[in-house]
Amino acid sequence: MRFYLGLATTFHDPALALVGPDGTVLFAEAAERFLQVKRAPNCEPDNPARMAALLQAYVPPGSEIVVASSWGPQFTEFLRGQAGVGAFDLMALAAHPTALNRSFVPEQAERVFIADLHAAQARAGHGTLLALMQEGRATGAAPRATVAGQRRYPHHRCHAAYGLWGSPFDAATALVVDGMGETGAAALYRLDGGRITELRRHRGRGSLGFLYGLITDLAGFDQVKGEEWKIMGLAPYGHPDPDLAALLARLCTVEGGRLRFAEAATIQAVAAEIRARRPADAEETGWADLARCGQDLFCDLMDVLVAEAAALGPSDNLVITGGCGLNSSYNGRVLGRSGFTRLHVPSAPADDGNAVGAAWLAFAEDHPDWAGPPAAQRPLSPYLGSRVSTTAMERLAEQEPRARRVGHAEATRAAAKILAAGGLVGWVQGRAEFGPRALGNRSILADPRPEGAKDALNAKVKYREAFRPFAPAILAEAGPDWFEAYADSPYMERTLIWRAEVRARVPAVVHQDGTGRLQSVTAARNPAFAALIAAFADVTGVPILLNTSFNVMGKPILHSAEDAILMFYTTGLDALVVEDWLVVK
Ligand SMILES: [Fe+2]
Repeated sequence: MRFYLGLATTFHDPALALVGPDGTVLFAEAAERFLQVKRAPNCEPDNPARMAALLQAYVPPGSEIVVASSWGPQFTEFLRGQAGVGAFDLMALAAHPTALNRSFVPEQAERVFIADLHAAQARAGHGTLLALMQEGRATGAAPRATVAGQRRYPHHRCHAAYGLWGSPFDAATALVVDGMGETGAAALYRLDGGRITELRRHRGRGSLGFLYGLITDLAGFDQVKGEEWKIMGLAPYGHPDPDLAALLARLCTVEGGRLRFAEAATIQAVAAEIRARRPADAEETGWADLARCGQDLFCDLMDVLVAEAAALGPSDNLVITGGCGLNSSYNGRVLGRSGFTRLHVPSAPADDGNAVGAAWLAFAEDHPDWAGPPAAQRPLSPYLGSRVSTTAMERLAEQEPRARRVGHAEATRAAAKILAAGGLVGWVQGRAEFGPRALGNRSILADPRPEGAKDALNAKVKYREAFRPFAPAILAEAGPDWFEAYADSPYMERTLIWRAEVRARVPAVVHQDGTGRLQSVTAARNPAFAALIAAFADVTGVPILLNTSFNVMGKPILHSAEDAILMFYTTGLDALVVEDWLVVK
């Protein structure tokens, strides 16, 4: 039997995915979860300790494993082929005058970047080999599996494969937009009859992803920490400032329907001018007007790429993937601004998702007639990660009489009641979500009705900036009653506008501009979470919960029941549900 281990091998957000002999995704998870280090920079995706357990769980003895990684070999020629330092690097460097420029001259920074990507490619699969050898040594038996080959696939093709094959569509056009692939930062692909073909690849170092990263830094945040999404949260508080907008517009112009990114000198000059205008408190509070202008520019430039997608790959169905697919604010508007009528954005559009893409591409290479994954995985569920063991809850119960195994029905009923009374509930069920969002399996939940729920949650658990909105999880059938132009949003991938008449009922999940980044919940996708929201609706009449990720600031989403118990006792959570266990304070 042949398995396919996909590895996302960028130096940030490494992840792995295991695809079985029939093309089914058996498992997918970012390395940060196992390691409990946010974004796991420069870590291997297939940590040997992680792999040992995975191999035992999924790969029977005598199997073969094909290792597939998410960067093709061309990327080095591309980076080396440019004389001096290009716009690609300056997007990052212009933003870090104090940190990066002091430690590295740009030429060195470029080498560091190449070295990091090189190192990540070179060690792809090593963790798996080590795990196989260690197991063999421990048991004295032959290794469980042999590595039957190591392959590399182009970065944007991996994004597209995950987005298109994981979509509900038989035919669709994918727009990939990110920081950088091997030869550029955007590409178009087409799915037809199960086959994926490239329509166009953008070339050059201009990058919408890095442009957004630069705006992130200039607004007082840190793109290296992945804080781009704070721009989205802050933008509605800002005002369109014509001078700032004009400055930003110099970074990328539109000529003949194409994006034309500025040269390095212009980027540096613009960054310097913007920095000179920056309010003194931007480092602490963020710069809302710049966020607003930056988000507006991003939307306009994305429109150009989507228009190109519509022209080169006419279709009703659009897939957006690559890191820029995390811009839920744009995703929520794109259908109204384009000829496409349906949108799919996968749960992990950034580089972690490429683990699935690479594994599927390897599978497809060995099965030329394959027309995409089995129907049960169309669209692909986000619940592909680890389960938690409840052993820690059993141990807790030996010392804490309020920790009890009450069964799923009682845990759901009790949690709904606590939530309706204004309590905060940590909620851990089933398999972890693949991608950055907690979608009801590793979530902290709260009542969205009290005006002060957001501040209370920040004060007791999350400790994050007041401007950042909390997201609503809503029963899908109720969606049209609460949102204008409602569209299914299973992965919390789009931001929609609340109906004006309902906003006062759920103020904790209504953002400054009247929007919410919703998760549409159905019993088919997540029975436990749907049952909880329904139970909450029975008590309150509101089929909506405030849903935020189960972590504390600066940490990844939790990975074990121990993590959950620790957070329960060190934060202001009122109850914790782990599977069918309940503990209350
Ligand atoms: Fe990417």
